[in-house]
Amino acid sequence: MINMNMNIQDITGKISRHIHGQFAEHLGRCIYEGIWVGKDSPIPNVEGMRTDVIEALRKLHIPVLRWPGGCFADEYHWKDGVGPTEQRARMVNNNWGGVEENNHFGTHEFLRLCELLETEPYISGNVGSGTVHEMQQWVEYMTLDGQSPMADWRKQNGQEEPWTLTYFGVGNENWGCGGNMRPEYYADLYRHYSTYVRNYGDNQIYKIACGANSDDYHWTEVLMREAGHLMNGLSLHYYTLPSGDWTSSKGSATDFTEEEWFTTLKNTLYMEELIIKHSKIMDKYDPEKKVGMIIDEWGIWTDVEPGTNPGFLYQQNTLRDAIIAGVNLNLFYKYADRIKMANIAQMVNVLQAMILTEGDQLILTPTYHVFNMYQIHQDSQRLDLQYTSPKYTMGAQSIDKISAAASKDHLNRVHLTICNLSHNESESFSCRIEGFTPSDIQGKVLTASALNTHNTFEHPEQITPVALEVSFAKDGTLTFELPAASVAAITLI
Ligand code: AHR
Repeated sequence: MINMNMNIQDITGKISRHIHGQFAEHLGRCIYEGIWVGKDSPIPNVEGMRTDVIEALRKLHIPVLRWPGGCFADEYHWKDGVGPTEQRARMVNNNWGGVEENNHFGTHEFLRLCELLETEPYISGNVGSGTVHEMQQWVEYMTLDGQSPMADWRKQNGQEEPWTLTYFGVGNENWGCGGNMRPEYYADLYRHYSTYVRNYGDNQIYKIACGANSDDYHWTEVLMREAGHLMNGLSLHYYTLPSGDWTSSKGSATDFTEEEWFTTLKNTLYMEELIIKHSKIMDKYDPEKKVGMIIDEWGIWTDVEPGTNPGFLYQQNTLRDAIIAGVNLNLFYKYADRIKMANIAQMVNVLQAMILTEGDQLILTPTYHVFNMYQIHQDSQRLDLQYTSPKYTMGAQSIDKISAAASKDHLNRVHLTICNLSHNESESFSCRIEGFTPSDIQGKVLTASALNTHNTFEHPEQITPVALEVSFAKDGTLTFELPAASVAAITLI
């Protein structure tokens, strides 16, 4: 039995809704097929974008969407993606399978998608192979009200009013696919390029610098030292690899042992060490925490599904993915004083996706269900939930068995999210809540009998949330039991 305790007056800060952000890259079947099918497609669509995908995503209340990459961003030339669709320039998507990119999905289509999803856009600009002028003109094109060469071109292309652009990334992974730069060189480029990412009229852009690759603390040190005063956010990328090894097989998405289950979760929990160590460096240069940590790529990265294009990063999504999503989100809330945004990679058909599509069919993944269950925390106040997790042991190694978070929203509802990481042991909970008597309680749990349970096009509801039994005693104690390998969300109203 785990004893938890919280007082609803003990607020430890706000959980930015942007922690529930998503990422959609021109990669494999994420944009094309997954979102964009074109206006003439037999698949029902809104202005070329799949109706079924949009309807499913709208339910998640996605706060922010990052686009067009990823590595793609540093080869993308935005001017090729505006104007009459059929006349748009074509290019090779060198990073992802060497396939042709026809640029049918460009700036107008992306910003329309954001409107349909009621999400804020986060655009990544091209530092690796683009110019300062090109970046400046893109921002002018999107946001300048009135007359200017770029604003006039935008109007000619059918968009009279400027868009609101909140987030702009100055490059992506410039230590790797975005130019193989040293941090000193990129820091100077960031200073240079970001100067021309202008605020036109009332549009205020939150500028995000390219941050470190997992444990590259030197990168964070140099960026904060040389350019911290000119940025609003600094990114961090960390992927959970089941094998922990980029140079050999990453591990299968669906075919794994109990040991691999454990190791994968251990690798996910490493995110906490990264957050703590990068935060410490950020604190040194920015003690007031003005610069947000933006974890704009995270999630599990496995081998691709057998028989699919290795450059398309198409992977299945199991109960293990659900736990990974739940654990990471709980962690991000814990450090929400520094983490202002996170974007899971990626939204549709790529890596740890919300949705998988095949022709006109769609399935919702376990990760989708976790994002749906966890949206209760968006923009709520984090509560100081106290508990000691028992250990989950495999051979000589141990990790915490439980990951949990609590919050209170603007309607004074109290929310709890809990993951049981153990592959074979259930757990009972007794949670004392001081200062709150609920009139109603709603609980949901996501679990399955096999660790690799996943939804397929033949069986799309193998794993979906079900009601969780919860009771509340007069002395203010909430009790419930979580099965092994499960993610739960409880709301007290
Ligand atoms: O998300 C897939 C790729 O992972 C992105 O394009 C890149 O930024 C990262 O290496």
